[in-house]
Amino acid sequence: MQQVSTGEEEMPAEDGENVESSAHGWETREAEPGALRSAMTLFPTGVTVVTSGTGERVEGMTANAVISVSLDPLLFLVSVHQEARIHPRIREEGYFAVSLLSADQEGLSRLFASPERSSGLPAVKSLGGGEGRTGAPLAAGALAAIECELESVYPGGDHDLFLGRVVAVHLGDTRRGPLVFHEGTYPNLTPYSGPGASGAFMDSARGFDARVSQAAARRKRR
Ligand SMILES: Cc1cc2nc3c(=O)[nH]c(=O)nc-3n(C[C@H](O)[C@H](O)[C@H](O)COP(=O)(O)O)c2cc1C
Repeated sequence: MQQVSTGEEEMPAEDGENVESSAHGWETREAEPGALRSAMTLFPTGVTVVTSGTGERVEGMTANAVISVSLDPLLFLVSVHQEARIHPRIREEGYFAVSLLSADQEGLSRLFASPERSSGLPAVKSLGGGEGRTGAPLAAGALAAIECELESVYPGGDHDLFLGRVVAVHLGDTRRGPLVFHEGTYPNLTPYSGPGASGAFMDSARGFDARVSQAAARRKRR
């Protein structure tokens, strides 16, 4: 598989440089960008396209640093590099939309991670999913899209953390699988064939379901 640049990489540490080995099998590195990248590239994530603005003012960017932060209130966060084109746009417009890409949207992920991509109406056309409630464009064929009004901006080094209040949630064709990013590539997800869902996983899934139901009940009571 072809390696994909996130546009954010640093040169990796030379092999053997500032590396210690331990009896427990850890290879401990100095805290530097290449080391953190080496660790995080092992962590598979979904992929989204974050958008903001309408018409000629549209900007979109591929992002995987997104978090569903809170269910009560509904808060969602995206981490955006301070020099990314979409950064000032989110601040100016005060809203953003996050389209969660499906397995067949690698092309869209590559397009919106490319510095040469279009803004404005050509970007709207590439996304093709119409406007959300905020006015931000959505990606047609995405699994879902989450729209937020900007609530707060927190400094995060060379990135800023945009925390949004969720104002609309759109579900697309949920039978499609997700687009996954892992070790700089977009691998196909193969169904897990190990032991059935059990133990810690089921406990944490039940805990999550319970929190979702409690939050829904609280909202109804208001
Ligand atoms: C899978 C993937 C995930 C990315 N996630 C983020 C992210 O969460 N935040 C970010 O600022 N850039 C992220 N990037 C990098 C931007 O998409 C890329 O740098 C883009 O060109 C934005 O920069 P620009 O507006 O300066 O062109 C990601 C790229 C890829 C391929």
